[in-house]
Amino acid sequence: MSSEAVKLCKSRALRSEWYVVADAADVADVPVTVKVLGVSFVLWRDLEGKLIAVFDRCPHRHAPLSGGVVRDGCLVCPYHFWKFDAEGTCVNVPSLGAGARLPASTSLAVMQVRELYGLVWLCPGVPTGEPPRIVEDDDASFRRINAGKEVWKVAATRMIDNFCDVAHFPFVHAGTIGDGVDPVVAPFNVVQLDAEFVGYEYTVDVLDEAGETIRQRMSTGFHLPFTIRSNTHYESGSREGDDRVLLLCATPIDEANSLFTFVVWRNHDHDVPAEDLLAFDRAIGAEDKLMLEQIEGGLPLDNSATVSVRSDRLSVEWRRRLAGLLDADRVRDT
Ligand SMILES: [Fe+2]
Repeated sequence: MSSEAVKLCKSRALRSEWYVVADAADVADVPVTVKVLGVSFVLWRDLEGKLIAVFDRCPHRHAPLSGGVVRDGCLVCPYHFWKFDAEGTCVNVPSLGAGARLPASTSLAVMQVRELYGLVWLCPGVPTGEPPRIVEDDDASFRRINAGKEVWKVAATRMIDNFCDVAHFPFVHAGTIGDGVDPVVAPFNVVQLDAEFVGYEYTVDVLDEAGETIRQRMSTGFHLPFTIRSNTHYESGSREGDDRVLLLCATPIDEANSLFTFVVWRNHDHDVPAEDLLAFDRAIGAEDKLMLEQIEGGLPLDNSATVSVRSDRLSVEWRRRLAGLLDADRVRDT
C-alpha cells in the first residue's frame, strides 16, 4: 500500500457504505443538494413525505436538478422543466407535449437512503449493509439530541483518527475535557464491543460538583468507514445509572472537506434545554476542528507511513480495517 493518503473519492468500496448527508428535518419540498465522495446528489420528498435521492444532474443536458423546484411531489429540472417522480421516472418533457411516450433513458437512478436518528443517510452506490444501529434510539427512557452539521476543511480520515484518540485531550482540550487530565494513557486492548462497533472499554473516576467521586465506565469504538460511538455509564455517585451515548459521524464531501455531525442520547437531564447540553460538546468539537484544519492532506492508511505509539492502538486498528475494506478496490483492479 502507498504511503500516500488513499484517494477516497476513487474508491468503489467506499461507495457501498452509508454516509450522513443532511438532517432529516432539513429536507422537505425544496430540493437539497449534498455531496459525498466528490459526487453531488439532490434530495427531496414526495407528497407522502418519502425521501428521494438522485444524482444532481439532469440526464438531458446535465443541469443541476437542485436548482429546480418540487411540484406535486416531483422534481422539476430548472433548464427544460423535465419532471421526475419519486421513482426517478421522467413523467413530463414539455417540449414533447403532454402524453408523449418517454424512453427509459430519460429517467434517473434513485439512490438508497435511510432516515435514522434524525439524519439522512445516503449510500452513493449499492449498499453492502446498513448504517450502524444505536439500540438506545428505540429505548423510550433515552432522549435524542441532534447537533446539526458543520463542514470541516479536513479529510474524513483525519477526523476519525482524531475521534479514536484520547492522548490529545490534555493539550487540544485543555479548555474543556482535558483540564487536569493525566497525559499518560493506560494500556488498552481493542475488542469487538458488539455486533456493530470495534473499540475498547475503560474506567474513569471524576469528581462531581459536591466533590464526590463518580466512576464512569466508558467505551469508544468505530464502525467502518467513518463513524465513532462513545458510551458513558455512570456506575457510582450522584449520577449512578445515568447513560450517555455519543455518535460522531464524518462524511467525506471530497478528499479535503468533510461533513461533521454528532448525536447524543441521554437517559437523564430530560428537562435541560438541548442547546445547553450540546454547548460543551460543541466546544470540544471546535477545539478538534481548529487543530485538524491545520493538517494538510488525508491520513495514509499504511500504518508504517506515520509513527504510532501505544495510545494510538484504536486508530491503528481502524486504519488496518479501513485499508482491508479498500483492498476490495485493488482486488477488482487486478
Ligand atoms: Fe479531540
